[in-house]
Amino acid sequence: MSKRRMVIAGNWKMNMTPSQAKNFASELYEAVKGKRGCDIVVCVPAIDIPAVVKVCAGTAIKVGAQNVHFKNSGAYTGEISPEMLIDAGVKYVVIGHSERRQYFGETDETVNLRTKAAVAAGLTAIVCVGETLTEREQGITAEVVAKQVKLALSGISADQMKKVIIAYEPVWAIGTGKTATAEQADEVCGLIRSVVASLYGKVVSRSTVIQYGGSMNAGNAAELLAMENIDGGLIGGASLKTDAFTAIVTAAQ
Ligand code: PGA
Repeated sequence: MSKRRMVIAGNWKMNMTPSQAKNFASELYEAVKGKRGCDIVVCVPAIDIPAVVKVCAGTAIKVGAQNVHFKNSGAYTGEISPEMLIDAGVKYVVIGHSERRQYFGETDETVNLRTKAAVAAGLTAIVCVGETLTEREQGITAEVVAKQVKLALSGISADQMKKVIIAYEPVWAIGTGKTATAEQADEVCGLIRSVVASLYGKVVSRSTVIQYGGSMNAGNAAELLAMENIDGGLIGGASLKTDAFTAIVTAAQ
């Protein structure tokens, strides 16, 4: 097991109405009560934030958002600012998820702007990177991922890296039921750690939390989390079921 503290984060994506979220968060709280061996986060739809923050207040579960704008206010219809998230009790935010890159025009540049703004506001940014199936088949995974990491972190100081988590999510493994093998996932997480080392030095790279995401579930979590360079998970589908998410939290203890 690594010396870093594991972070298990659920990414609910566009699931759960506010009333469903409230009930589910209460169930989850009961299920993970007493499991103090890792950090537990739920990244919920923006509209669910107030309900989930209320239920999770004073518990070990921290609340995250799934996106954030890079300005604190202004004429950006439909957007939510870092300041708003902080005021609502949010501690984490997912940035640059492949679904946002794929469907909503997210680029390495906007990922970088959001990351800088999130961290400056005091949020912990969960920055997602990962190759597509074509890129893996072309043998350019390392190149693609290293570039995403470098661009995302441009302008982030070594000190601010305490507020950055990198989630390695191979696009081909997201929501497909196809998980990277523990070795494949660890190899790329190790590569990410070496990129962080080249930018900030060994001390920072050794303490940076690097998660794996992509069809992590109750059955494969223990093996993935046991790998040297994997410090947690960003979990989609399995985070919507109390049993599955709790099993992953347990695997991280
Ligand atoms: P999945 O999603 O666990 O459903 O594959 C992971 C993610 O998109 O963060």
